[in-house]
Amino acid sequence: MQNKPAASPLIPIDPRARGGLQKQIYAGIRRAILNGTLRPGARLLSSRAMAADLAVSRTTMLLAMDQLRAEGYVTARRGSGMFVVDELPDDLPQPPVRINKPAATHPPLSRRGAALSATPPASRRLTGPPRAFRIGSPALDLFPRRVWSQLVRRCLKSLPAAGLDYGDPAGLPALRAAIAAHVGASRGTHCDADQVFIVAGAARGLDLLCRVLLDPGDLVWLEEPGYSGAWSAALGAGARIHPVRVDDEGLDVAAGAGSAPAARLVFVTPSHQYPLGVAMSLPRRLALLRWAGSAGAWVLEDDYDSEFRYSTHAVPCLHGLDTGERVIYVNSFSKNLFPALRLGFIIVPKDLRRQLFSSRSAADMHPPVLDQMVLAEFMEGGHFERHVRRMRAVYRERLEALAAAAERWCGGALRLRPVRTGLHAVADLVGVDGESVYREAAARGVEVTPLSAYYWGEAQPVEALVMGFAAVDPAALNLGMERLAAAIEAAARPTSRRRAD
Ligand SMILES: Cc1ncc(COP(=O)(O)O)c(C=O)c1O
Repeated sequence: MQNKPAASPLIPIDPRARGGLQKQIYAGIRRAILNGTLRPGARLLSSRAMAADLAVSRTTMLLAMDQLRAEGYVTARRGSGMFVVDELPDDLPQPPVRINKPAATHPPLSRRGAALSATPPASRRLTGPPRAFRIGSPALDLFPRRVWSQLVRRCLKSLPAAGLDYGDPAGLPALRAAIAAHVGASRGTHCDADQVFIVAGAARGLDLLCRVLLDPGDLVWLEEPGYSGAWSAALGAGARIHPVRVDDEGLDVAAGAGSAPAARLVFVTPSHQYPLGVAMSLPRRLALLRWAGSAGAWVLEDDYDSEFRYSTHAVPCLHGLDTGERVIYVNSFSKNLFPALRLGFIIVPKDLRRQLFSSRSAADMHPPVLDQMVLAEFMEGGHFERHVRRMRAVYRERLEALAAAAERWCGGALRLRPVRTGLHAVADLVGVDGESVYREAAARGVEVTPLSAYYWGEAQPVEALVMGFAAVDPAALNLGMERLAAAIEAAARPTSRRRAD
């Protein structure tokens, strides 16, 4: 007992309060014992030390302690000092007990809120660090943290006091200029820096755009299969969602125009359809722009992972083809840098800037200025280009490892579709369904997502898996594939045999 560190509760003392110091000290220590701050058996600091801590006389302190002892809260042990008693007498007031109240009957969610909360994210993440075949994660361990942390230090040091104030609602001008230069050089489109808005990730950009561009009940085309972030953004704006099928040429514009000609907005991933991975053909791109022009609709182009190309030249973005100011370009730094950064950007027509500016100010104002400064310097210093170039080589190697491992472990049971861009692949399953494989794989610590998770409408999904290949190295991909092969085998067994196993 003597070896326990001595405790002294923090007691607020007000010399002017009624009742005197002795009463305040007594009440403070009693409260600390009853609420568990001073635990049973705890040794208290000596009265001399506590009196010094509280800046009261030792006599005052001794009188307060005498009262606590007389009431049975503390006890003295010869030669060791004062201790909180091990057990409080039954008739003493006990610490308040938490009672499990019945669930509060608060008013219900809005229909939108209920629909949003019922929408599960498509990708099926297991908890824990990156693993084979996580979707949406770049190689986080290869991010140049040293350069980034040097820039953080430098930016923080050079930030004037005024830089701690609210910033520009469109985003840091230096970052917007760096982004305008980047898309001009690598995405085949042109914009002025003042058309660029910095957002807290592409998902936030889509949400902002849907709220500004749509009225409740408006029709929106979403690709099917497609990105659940776009689904949530449209739902959040109260829109009616019209899924439009995707084939080898991307979004089927004629199907959309035939079934929902009055749509106000279309969401597309033309460079690398999410999740199927096909690039939208030029005739389809032109048809989409023509239709949007005649229908008076907006096109939101999500260009989320187009920097990573393996066998073809860059497919220029749809925005670069648009002469009618219908296309709003959305991109993210989650894939080419890291998702926790929560930075992305949108490029809007010039006449939309003012409205967006006001709506933005009424919502999140702008992402953190310091992060924007660091990213601007990262881009201006050439680190962004260097990192993307380096990662392109790394991901190409990982993609080759994925294909080799699929061949080695799964043979004909898993057929990878060609991958030319991005960080994930689609693999067709033969004779087994994706949901069962997902469950068997998860039980073996392997993360795959059934393609069916990206369908919302009537369309019948084929049995396939969506598999990320960027997050872990070739050895981990190979090990993951060995386990996935076992999962596919287990999923192919009749249910009764699987249960018995
Ligand atoms: C199709 C698509 N667009 C955009 C994003 C990126 O969103 P954010 O920038 O909000 O991380 C993702 C992320 O997984 C995605 O799959």
